[in-house]
Amino acid sequence: MLKGSAKAHTNIALIKYWGKADEDLIIPMNNSLSLTLDAFYTETTVTFSEELTTDIFYLDDVLQDEAGTTKISRFLDLVRKKADCPLFAEVKSYNHVPTAAGLASSASGLAALAAACNQALQLNLSDKDLSRLARRGSGSACRSIFPGFVEWQKGTSDETSFAEPVPSSGWEDELAMIFILINDQEKDVSSRDGMRRTVETSAFYPGWLQTTPQDLASAKIAIHAQDFNKLGAITENNALKMHGTTLAAVPPFTYWSPDSLKAMNAVKKIRATGLACYFTMDAGPNVKVLCQKKDVAKIEAELANYFEKEQLITAFSGPGITYL
Ligand code: ADP
Ligand code: DP6
Ligand code: CO
Repeated sequence: MLKGSAKAHTNIALIKYWGKADEDLIIPMNNSLSLTLDAFYTETTVTFSEELTTDIFYLDDVLQDEAGTTKISRFLDLVRKKADCPLFAEVKSYNHVPTAAGLASSASGLAALAAACNQALQLNLSDKDLSRLARRGSGSACRSIFPGFVEWQKGTSDETSFAEPVPSSGWEDELAMIFILINDQEKDVSSRDGMRRTVETSAFYPGWLQTTPQDLASAKIAIHAQDFNKLGAITENNALKMHGTTLAAVPPFTYWSPDSLKAMNAVKKIRATGLACYFTMDAGPNVKVLCQKKDVAKIEAELANYFEKEQLITAFSGPGITYL
């Protein structure tokens, strides 16, 4: 019996990953930049055993059906090949984050699974190689290997596509992200399907690709200069551009709900009062508010004028992979 357990935190991109150049290897079209967070995480245990005749996947103690298990099995196949191990596995995972709601469960989920496999099969992967492995499960997972600010270098091949920490002199410890939970149910269009449809059909996708490298370069300059307003403005603009691309897809779709718009407007109004805060959104209706730690209490109080207190969850910079 070969057993491993690991914990990974979610990350939220300030410059988004949106579109694949290689669907099988999960090589992205553009570099992305994220912040790993402390509030949401996944803990996963994997056991490879001679006694199993198939892979088994429990998520939050619920045995997953064939479709849910097949995704995991494909990832386990990669790991089995790497380790030259023929054994089936039982995966038990606990998401301390809503699953498939645009809150990055695939990032923490697949990063935790990759690390648990690394431990179980004694692959002794470096952080870089663990990032490459996690990437094969879900692109955003490659960034959850590392704490704080992280950049995913898109690369051109399996070997050259991985995430790495962005030097920031610890500035991330002065920042926070307030999550406005609008809907924690499973989204209609998965990140994978949404970005594929956008790449294949959206007339706006070329605009995304043309401008995102400049956004990323500016974001890194803002991090270096610890210029919060600059980083926030780029973050907001980049998210809006990503969501703009989905409207021009065929058939069109959007991850926004009426309350997403309400949240974005609230952030703009709060900002107009002089409190620095900027929103971002992923593949789901929930809105995340980037702000400085020193302003969290004031911004939470302002947001409470628009949303229930229970809908607000504040996260700070979080750690990279840990083994349990
Ligand atoms: P999200 O916004 O939550 O990342 P995605 O559409 O990107 O949503 O991915 C959701 C999928 O990620 C799930 O359907 C499941 O296949 C996978 N996933 C989520 N959590 C886990 C986990 N703990 N272990 C393995 N796979 C997971
Ligand atoms: C909008 O990493 O979930 O959150 O690679 O297909 O598993 P797959 O997709 P995923 O996509 C995340 C998209 C995003 C932006 C981001 O996290 O960078
Ligand atoms: Co995801």
